[in-house]
Amino acid sequence: MNTLPPLNNQYQRSLTDPDGFWAEQAAALPWSRTPSRICTTDADGLTRWFADGELNTCYAAVDYQVEQGRGEQDAFIYDSPVTGVVRRISYRQLRDEVAQLAGALRALGVGHGDRVIIYMPMIPETAMAMLACARLGAVHSVVFGGFAPHELAIRIDDAQPVVVLTASCGIEFDRVIPYQPLLNEALRLATHQPDHCLLFQRPQCEADLSLPRYADWASTVAQAQPAECVPVAATDPLYILYTSGTTGKPKGIVRDNGGHAVALVYSMTAIYNLQPGQVLFTASDFGWAVGHSYSVYGPLLHGCTSVILEGKPVRTPDAGTFWRIVQDYGANVLFTAPTAFRAIRKEDPNATLRRQYDLSTLQAVFVAGERCDPPTLAWLQLVTNVPVVDHWWQTESGWPMVANQLGIEALPVKPGSATRPVCGYDVQILGEDGQPLGPNEEGYVCLKLPLPPGCLPTLWRDTPRFRDAYLSRFPGYYLSGDGGYVDNDGYVFIMGRVDDVINVAGHRLSTGEMEELVSSHPAVAECAVVGIACPLRGQRPVGLIVLKDGQTITPTELEQELVTLLREKIGALAWFRNALTVKRLPKTRSGKILRKTIRQLADGEPFDIPPTIDDPAIIGEIRDALVVARVGIAFADA
Ligand code: COA
Ligand code: AMP
Repeated sequence: MNTLPPLNNQYQRSLTDPDGFWAEQAAALPWSRTPSRICTTDADGLTRWFADGELNTCYAAVDYQVEQGRGEQDAFIYDSPVTGVVRRISYRQLRDEVAQLAGALRALGVGHGDRVIIYMPMIPETAMAMLACARLGAVHSVVFGGFAPHELAIRIDDAQPVVVLTASCGIEFDRVIPYQPLLNEALRLATHQPDHCLLFQRPQCEADLSLPRYADWASTVAQAQPAECVPVAATDPLYILYTSGTTGKPKGIVRDNGGHAVALVYSMTAIYNLQPGQVLFTASDFGWAVGHSYSVYGPLLHGCTSVILEGKPVRTPDAGTFWRIVQDYGANVLFTAPTAFRAIRKEDPNATLRRQYDLSTLQAVFVAGERCDPPTLAWLQLVTNVPVVDHWWQTESGWPMVANQLGIEALPVKPGSATRPVCGYDVQILGEDGQPLGPNEEGYVCLKLPLPPGCLPTLWRDTPRFRDAYLSRFPGYYLSGDGGYVDNDGYVFIMGRVDDVINVAGHRLSTGEMEELVSSHPAVAECAVVGIACPLRGQRPVGLIVLKDGQTITPTELEQELVTLLREKIGALAWFRNALTVKRLPKTRSGKILRKTIRQLADGEPFDIPPTIDDPAIIGEIRDALVVARVGIAFADA
């Protein structure tokens, strides 16, 4: 039973005739072999889109755009307030530079199917590196520059790259962060060793290229022969993007070439309502799915101009940067995470800076990555005077699953809702028993299989984990990990994760991984890490710690040591600042920690104490500790 009222004919057709619907969308792409098989199941029982099609994603995104007459149009505009550099790169320049870089990678041994890790900051060379891999049919894996060596090492071991691409540094506000020591440490920790590390020298910091494996980007590229595009199967992987699961081992989300390109081109008009030649400004790091899809592949595949910002929404130099960029480059759509607007609003609540800029080109603002809280939505609508679209998606989907599809039918905005399911996504809210729930009943947000093009076909070299994590809980459905409900008008409300994943300043993090690290401290007997509401970051992790008997470490010392540990192991982005020492954790009579109960206590909402709890008296202590933490966080980040 579908609990949703129909959106429109297009949505209905995408579900009743997916082959016909997606074959039509696929016609927008320059295939080297046009697919005749649209949605099929492979030998492993996995959904595959366009299985007999062949294309090259870099060709479709770059060379083809030049052939279509976009050679002189800007493909990228790089604006870096942290270095004072602005650079425009036309489609023709992009094609030539990417071909040259691909030639350099080929000379270093990279070929079809080989993996390349990209550990780089927000500079155009990072996007070129992604495209150069796509050109060769190689599989890139971008690792967010804020991750610590330990995280990078895990990804190196899983992806087993032939080459790692890096730069001499990233820049955080006015702080130069040298990358080479981080990469060296990751290589020391990793078992797998790449053959080469190709390093882009930046003037802010000189890396030592005499070290083993290192090669200089500029000179290697200058000596290379340009590489042509290698046609690949639509089902071949384009990239792997690691995301937090519920354990310390991140999930390697696989993105294919064909379904990805079709879905993104479709979304550019159907959701974002952008025409070729228009300008999209997506303020997200390349290391996240949003950066992959809407800073690089989506806009280029659709012949748009993509603005790349190296800097933050605030203090680089001020909270007017986003508005300046919209004005200077005539951006038509601005896309970022709500946390960025909360940061802007905090610095410029009366929008004084905003009024200095002309936003007349702006058609809409899109936000994703976390629920857009209604006050931020209202403020944004007021200061921009354009539709503000909260839309829901995940690294796994690679493009929006629920949105206000402005290119089809702009629906009235309801604060707190990500609006209606996007074409191709059969969103269902299921109860504990796997039965679809009715309107306004909160449950598990699931997608009826098959998933549409663009979504992950599996996890990198781990199909059993793919099935276990996403498909086994409710047979026939994909489990998103989010809870939510659908109202009487078919609007979807995503209320937050129902698993051990939290969202900190738009960054998805695993509390399970944090617990593994906290538990490794010699004084810790057991722990639970939960997300707690934060007015700026959405959520922040808080640890509840039970000490081993006889420990003399003070709570303050322990907190300091754990903060340092998590910063070193995961990275500063984890924003772990609070470790609360408690006598016991709530458990079942069989000794299992009641994580859901702790999450509910952290949320501060009323709830029923589970009958299986071994000692109800413990709840009071935990609740008090969390209330104090919540008030402190609200005060610090208000
Ligand atoms: N390299 C190195 N360190 C990084 C980094 C990177 N690429 N990105 C973040 N960090 C560090 C920061 O410097 C900071 O370190 P500190 O504790 O030493 O100050 C820490 O990680 C936390 O960073 P962040 O969460 O970004 O906090 P912030 O105060 O620097 O900025 C926001 C806050 C809200 C402005 C910022 O998080 C933001 O713009 N978020 C939008 C997120 C986003 O785009 N998500 C993508 C989904 S659309
Ligand atoms: P990521 O994979 O990093 O993009 O994170 C995906 C998770 O972010 C989702 O599972 C949600 O928990 C959350 N999320 C993303 N977009 C939204 C949204 N518009 N509303 C609510 N939660 C969101």
